[in-house]
Amino acid sequence: MLSESENTALMQVGAGTLMGELLRRYWMPIAAVAELDDNPTKQVRLMGEDLVLYKDKSGTHGLLDLHCQHRRADLSYGMVEDCGLRCNYHGWAYDESGACIDQPFEETAHPDANYKDRIKIKAYKIEPKAGILWAYLGPDPAPLVPDWEYYHVNGYKQVIMSYIPCNWMQCQENSIDPVHFEWLHSNWGDRLLGKDGPYAPTHLKLGFDEFEHGFVYRRVREDTTEEDALWTQGRVCFWPNALFTGFFEYRVPIDDSNTLSVAIFNNPVPGDEPFEQGRIPYWYSPIKDEKTGRWITSHIMNQDFVAWVGQGTVADRTQEHLGESDRGVLLMRRKMLDQAKLVADGGEPKGLIRDPAKNHSIHLPQVGGPREVNFGDKEPTAPRNRHLYGQPQEVLDEMDRIWAERAKALT
Ligand code: FES
Ligand SMILES: [Fe+2]
Repeated sequence: MLSESENTALMQVGAGTLMGELLRRYWMPIAAVAELDDNPTKQVRLMGEDLVLYKDKSGTHGLLDLHCQHRRADLSYGMVEDCGLRCNYHGWAYDESGACIDQPFEETAHPDANYKDRIKIKAYKIEPKAGILWAYLGPDPAPLVPDWEYYHVNGYKQVIMSYIPCNWMQCQENSIDPVHFEWLHSNWGDRLLGKDGPYAPTHLKLGFDEFEHGFVYRRVREDTTEEDALWTQGRVCFWPNALFTGFFEYRVPIDDSNTLSVAIFNNPVPGDEPFEQGRIPYWYSPIKDEKTGRWITSHIMNQDFVAWVGQGTVADRTQEHLGESDRGVLLMRRKMLDQAKLVADGGEPKGLIRDPAKNHSIHLPQVGGPREVNFGDKEPTAPRNRHLYGQPQEVLDEMDRIWAERAKALT
């Protein structure tokens, strides 16, 4: 059980807080690249900071304070220019470094005063990779945006986001909680489908090991042994805020009470021919059934969301009764607090990648490796997303077309 002060320290994400400063050492996924192609400005809130993300006409991305330095107008209603973003109120303009590059009336009234040189807006680094825009809110020098092997699998990528109205830490605790698969997904999932059969094979043994990019969790169930990949390889609770089970599920802190779930899927396509995806689609998956006002329960990650929001906006860890199934959760909480203290003392936390020579197609453990495409005799269709509710028809149509074309080329 955690003390009240440890509980508070674990959940706070603002600048200057213990965990907030640790989290600021890592790149966070905050939007899809294609979103900014559709609309060049987007208001975002990240770790309690209100910001505007934009793509200017020369293709440069920027991430600035939401409020203009002049009289605080909302820059997400601003205009993108060849270079930078211009406020819609009186036309002050900024570039991605946060420099004020134009103040139309000031420059007319006092051409030699160079008032703009004394104005600087808060600006953060932003970098595209794998269809995602990654933001870094920490001190310089920034580490590299990691390049995972997963991004290089020949597949169809899509980015799926959901707004979850609870603190990020209880979402991340789910990343190191093997037993919940048996109950939340297998047993409850079956009951939701009206199946009243026997319960799923139960867990017999759990194992947890730390590695550079998080923890590996291992399990033996009634139907598996220690020879099984679920034990020999395990799955990845990814440090500091994701789960990797063959795709990434990031839990990005919006503020102390809200989390952006960012899932990065890469479905292997038929055949070995290289697959180039011009535009990686994105979609927002709703979590509430508007008719009933209840949470959506039909998809795997939606079931997780039900558990997380059910713990309260911020889970009160002083009221828990932990058991043997929570060994991984305890391990992770302790590591989070230790690493946060390390950062507060001026140290470098784990998992940062700074050497460009090493930042290429980095392997993460994955049960079964990249998923095979095996159609047998059946007409190939693209896999439907079983994890998140509401996959748009246009994404399904595009996938089906690609799968059919590539399968045909194989025959
Ligand atoms: S408030 Fe932005 S230019 Fe005046
Ligand atoms: Fe889950």
